[in-house]
Amino acid sequence: MRLTLEGKAALVTGAGRGIGRAIAAQLASYGASVMLNDLDEGAARETESILRSAGGRAEHLAGDVTAPAFPQQLVDATLQAFGALDIIVNNAGYTWDNVIQKTTDEQFQAMLEIHVVAPFRILRAASAWLRETAKREIAQGRRVMRKVVNVTSIAGTDGNAGQAGYSSGKAAVIGLTKTLAREWGRYNVNVNCVGFGLIETRLIQPLDSQAASIEIQGRQIPVGVQPKVLEAVKSMCPLGRLGTPEEAAGAALFLCSPLSDYVTGEVLICSGGLHLH
Ligand SMILES: NC(=O)c1ccc[n+]([C@@H]2O[C@H](COP(=O)([O-])OP(=O)(O)OC[C@H]3O[C@@H](n4cnc5c(N)ncnc54)[C@H](O)[C@@H]3O)[C@@H](O)[C@H]2O)c1
Repeated sequence: MRLTLEGKAALVTGAGRGIGRAIAAQLASYGASVMLNDLDEGAARETESILRSAGGRAEHLAGDVTAPAFPQQLVDATLQAFGALDIIVNNAGYTWDNVIQKTTDEQFQAMLEIHVVAPFRILRAASAWLRETAKREIAQGRRVMRKVVNVTSIAGTDGNAGQAGYSSGKAAVIGLTKTLAREWGRYNVNVNCVGFGLIETRLIQPLDSQAASIEIQGRQIPVGVQPKVLEAVKSMCPLGRLGTPEEAAGAALFLCSPLSDYVTGEVLICSGGLHLH
């Protein structure tokens, strides 16, 4: 049987670039309609036009997933656009790194807000529709599987020096995932995490004078990785290289597809075999 996501409606956060864009493109290429969210409106629009020119169905809603009221708006907009919500990928994220003694309260909280609080609010916002819809389907004797994929990192599963906040947020989202897998199994929702090693995106560009930065609530936060760390990682990685966004998206696609209908509460690591412990 050929893999298809025809008739499925998906929501992908942080879909303006990098891994989120690649996940959205793969979902659309298998036939899903995709709501694209990103903080950066221009980037979200660009993803939308890439998906549409490849024949996909896509809409976008720009906005900050950490703004308390926004997750409900995003879920409502997806339901309004497509009449359903079958796949949720909580991908939006960034790093704000430092050793613990240099990590401020604001910095630590920001990492929890983006990596665990925003996914929590999005899933809570979706829960009414997901539960009511599943109850109706079950009463009709139908089993329709739906998918939640939360993005974590080997920094969350293994810990990583210099990332107290990021690692904590990425570990916390695993707890949320495992709990929802238990709460939502009865509604036929598979809830899993995909965890990445080093994937070639803006997030891990070499940190130098031209380093990229992300604007969060008016503050420019440099994102990137020290060039010597990138080299060390390549030599520690069994596959000897960084991953591409498309390879990262492949692991997420498995968890978004019927291939994973009997997988729930798990963490799938896509890191070329790299672990930090
Ligand atoms: N690249 C890696 O090596 C790597 C490794 C492990 C985990 N991850 C995780 O993968 C996910 C995607 O990262 P990426 O590498 O594609 O980074 P990226 O910077 O290329 O893309 C992330 C996107 O998320 C968006 N975003 C950030 N904060 C947002 C917010 N508050 N609301 C809405 N959108 C927001 C950004 O604008 C950006 O377009 C993140 O959760 C990241 O932590 C990445």
